[in-house]
Amino acid sequence: MGHTLKLNNGHEIPIVGLGTYKSPPGQVQEAVKAAITCGYRHIDCAWFYENEAEVGQGIHAKIADGTIKREDIFITSKLWNNFHAKNSVVPMLRDSLKKLNLDYVDLYLIHWPMGFKETAPTLPPDSSGYSDVDYIETWQGMEECVKLGLAKSIGLSNFNSEQITRILQNCTIKPVVNQVEVNPNINQKKLIKFCKDRDIVVVGFCPLGRSNYVGLRPNFPTPTIHDPKVIEMAKKYNKTPAQIVLNYLVSLGISVIPKSVTPSRIAENIDIFDFRLDTDDIAYLDACNKNQRCSPQSNHADHKYFPFKIEF
Ligand SMILES: NC(=O)c1ccc[n+]([C@@H]2O[C@H](COP(=O)([O-])OP(=O)(O)OC[C@H]3O[C@@H](n4cnc5c(N)ncnc54)[C@H](OP(=O)(O)O)[C@@H]3O)[C@@H](O)[C@H]2O)c1
Repeated sequence: MGHTLKLNNGHEIPIVGLGTYKSPPGQVQEAVKAAITCGYRHIDCAWFYENEAEVGQGIHAKIADGTIKREDIFITSKLWNNFHAKNSVVPMLRDSLKKLNLDYVDLYLIHWPMGFKETAPTLPPDSSGYSDVDYIETWQGMEECVKLGLAKSIGLSNFNSEQITRILQNCTIKPVVNQVEVNPNINQKKLIKFCKDRDIVVVGFCPLGRSNYVGLRPNFPTPTIHDPKVIEMAKKYNKTPAQIVLNYLVSLGISVIPKSVTPSRIAENIDIFDFRLDTDDIAYLDACNKNQRCSPQSNHADHKYFPFKIEF
């Protein structure tokens, strides 16, 4: 499996995974195949991304050609916010499994702590679409997924430290992961330490600062891969700016899930383990931290369980 991190239940998660959000259905199958061919053994999916069937086709093509067996690859999916009621969790995982054409996922996550009404749009325009289902109830449904053998591990995404504490106080199966935004603009050192102290691995999303969103949203944080100093740094190591940033993030002790549908970039984003950044360069990247998110989810900031109301 290459470079992995150990989870608190004994399973291992490969450090670099392929992100699939906004990977178009016509292209994601090829991206998944390219990734597996060049050594990825971790794919990050979600029901919300509306492309799990095509991701599944990519995985099955590489099983069929003998490159991997099912047990060689770590597949994550996520429960969307409309389905936080305890009895909806197992059916929604079954729906993702059917699309992926798999019997189990390696990891199933609660995508966000905020619940929405089952009848509301997937991104409700206002609070009339919110539900107040407590994510503690949702977690009971997640535990059922493990008991049924549908998920090897379960975890959280976009949970803050207080929400993680509530889960830990009310669970019978511990979360193995909290998946949150991590890149040099928001390096999450405090949340990473908080999770590490509780034996929870952080998986960092938007590791490259989501460069495809630049210009689409006012005040969007400039991705560090576009920082002239990082571009200079990359030349010094004979690496690319993306490789510099991913190497830095991995040195924080986390897993990263860069998204790409470009084969050369997919290969580049996993070729990050053959160099070490100098102390000065690490200090520069540390100093980029501004706690600026590219995924602030601010449209739902008035939800009871909105996670970004406290420092971490
Ligand atoms: N749990 C959550 O709430 C949550 C939220 C957001 C994201 N995620 C997960 O995290 C994954 C990654 O986040 P993201 O997709 O938002 O952003 P990202 O991985 O930070 O950035 C993706 C963008 O970077 C480009 N790119 C990829 N490799 C590159 C390279 N080597 N050099 C230059 N540009 C490169 C991609 O372009 P091309 O594809 O055109 O090559 C794409 O436009 C998602 O796909 C998803 O799986 C989870």
